[in-house]
Amino acid sequence: MILVTGGCGYIGSHVVKALTEAGEKVLVYDNLSQGTKAALIHGEELVVGDICDQGSLKQVFETHDIEAVIHLAALVNAAESNDKVDLYRSVNEIGSQNVYQAAVAAGVKMIMYSSSAAVYGTPVGLEPIQESAPLLPTNVYGETKLAGEKLLLDIAGHEVKYGIFRFFNVGGAEEGGRLGQSRESRAIMQRLFAVAAGDDDHIVISGHDYDTSDGTVVRDFIHVEDIALAFVLGLNNLRKGSKSFTLNLGSGESHTIGEVIKEVGIVTGKNIPLIYGPRIKGDISYSLSDISLVQKVLGWEPVHTLRLIVRDGWNAYKKLSLKEGKHVL
Ligand SMILES: NC(=O)c1ccc[n+]([C@@H]2O[C@H](COP(=O)([O-])OP(=O)(O)OC[C@H]3O[C@@H](n4cnc5c(N)ncnc54)[C@H](O)[C@@H]3O)[C@@H](O)[C@H]2O)c1
Repeated sequence: MILVTGGCGYIGSHVVKALTEAGEKVLVYDNLSQGTKAALIHGEELVVGDICDQGSLKQVFETHDIEAVIHLAALVNAAESNDKVDLYRSVNEIGSQNVYQAAVAAGVKMIMYSSSAAVYGTPVGLEPIQESAPLLPTNVYGETKLAGEKLLLDIAGHEVKYGIFRFFNVGGAEEGGRLGQSRESRAIMQRLFAVAAGDDDHIVISGHDYDTSDGTVVRDFIHVEDIALAFVLGLNNLRKGSKSFTLNLGSGESHTIGEVIKEVGIVTGKNIPLIYGPRIKGDISYSLSDISLVQKVLGWEPVHTLRLIVRDGWNAYKKLSLKEGKHVL
């Protein structure tokens, strides 16, 4: 069976769904600090536990026959990470090490890890970012994700294969709207939906004096279902005996935040009031993936456009609102 840490969270729940629908038996390990059991829509087995708890991890490996680990559990708020350095290091670094060590001790031969484009920081030029680009994170979150990569490289050897994916900006949701991103998420798309739904009055755009077409930062949005598919392909690739890999997962298309706001306005039919604020210290101004390597290695292609990412994300946001007894017109 495949152990997915953080499988009750936003991306994890889509990965779990895709694995189950591909015929895999999945076990989820999550402390439910952010995720929810309801996100396991096919009723996958859940162990409620913390990746900082070595004893609990050891027990999971002792009591289940685990073939591969997909490690997604982490704290993910980049802005918060700069204020809670010790907490982010303990969960994202020591917690990751605990997962890897418990897996290797139990004889697991394949470990996949969800890293982030945050490991690159702001690139020097405006070329799409290749995996070989310098790794210079600009915030604590990015540093901890990079540490999670290095710890995995250290522990993997001839015996243990690894697959590292560096996600760019993840958005969207499964089409049925049963899964989605938490309301508390600080992801830009969620904050825009909150304004469209009337949950917030306006959005603050941090910095509009960047050297981009409209002065706002440039991002590369990728649909969460495209990410989930990559894990299924990556797992099968490692199973077939292919080499370990580190691969970008983005759309390969760039959009300014100004363009994303326009798109959210079109899809939701709402006016999105905005206020321009100062830049956030350490914010990356330009982020665009080069995806030629993952296309070659896994034969993976992102199939969702920005329009679909916004449509599916908005649909999930509205469904969640309805569940909470709130109607979004
Ligand atoms: N969302 C993005 O755009 C993005 C981009 C790049 C990388 N990532 C990475 O993807 C992964 C998933 O992110 P997400 O957006 O789904 O976040 P999320 O917060 O929705 O999911 C994280 C899950 O991990 C669980 N978790 C947190 N701390 C834990 C702990 N100590 N022990 C056990 N479980 C714990 C949470 O309960 C939650 O279910 C993370 O590793 C993140 O760094 C996300």
